[in-house]
Amino acid sequence: MNQAVRRVAIVAAMPEELSALLQAMPPDKQVQRAGRTFWLSQWCGHEVVAVLSRIGKVAAATTTTLLLTEFAVGRVLFTGVAGGLGEGVRVGDVVVADALLQHDMDASPLFPRFELPGLGVDRLRADADLVALVVQVAGEVLDKAHLHGLLQSAPRVHQGLVISGDLFVDTTAESAALRLALPDALAVEMEGAALAQVCHDFGVPFAVIRTISDRADDAAHVDFQRFVLEVASRYSLAVVKAVLERLPR
Ligand code: ADE
Repeated sequence: MNQAVRRVAIVAAMPEELSALLQAMPPDKQVQRAGRTFWLSQWCGHEVVAVLSRIGKVAAATTTTLLLTEFAVGRVLFTGVAGGLGEGVRVGDVVVADALLQHDMDASPLFPRFELPGLGVDRLRADADLVALVVQVAGEVLDKAHLHGLLQSAPRVHQGLVISGDLFVDTTAESAALRLALPDALAVEMEGAALAQVCHDFGVPFAVIRTISDRADDAAHVDFQRFVLEVASRYSLAVVKAVLERLPR
């Protein structure tokens, strides 16, 4: 690969979230590192590397570090599902993170709750240009998905805070506590803020795109299983492909 060309990384946590995309992406080469498979390809005019991070913040951080140190990655797109927290954030909607925070980071009283020790902030911002592109493209893709009957109600695209922690939030009490502590959080998941921290440390632009699979309440596990299997993978493919087609080379 030409040294000046830097790859676009596409990351998801679970196989269900990436399966349609991996089928659509023309296979080129597979590389194994740290128990993960990195799929390399030329796709939609870009050098691309796709990988499953596995679930949770440490797994996401390990995967992102490998991408940035071994695969000449210049931009990172994370795609997957999340639980909806914000009012009006419904199953089937898409949330594009403009900032990410680790909701289980609490080094108080040494540092304020949520602050990342050493960084002096609790929120890390996603790349503004990538976020703007993804928001625009996701809106167009969702319109089509709705028209094609993939979703029952008209889905919406939201932009705002996404929070991450090593916890699948599946009780109404837990999601209420998160809402109280972080009233502007739109969605909760388990990887995005860790990927954000690694990208921040390496100075690499990134975006996190989450389809809402559940409302992080007592019904979350049921909604989640059904949604991931039936919708998430096709969604990821449609949004990521459309983003790649518009992304400057
Ligand atoms: N990913 C999808 N739904 C989630 C939830 N309820 N909690 C954490 N991560 C999720």
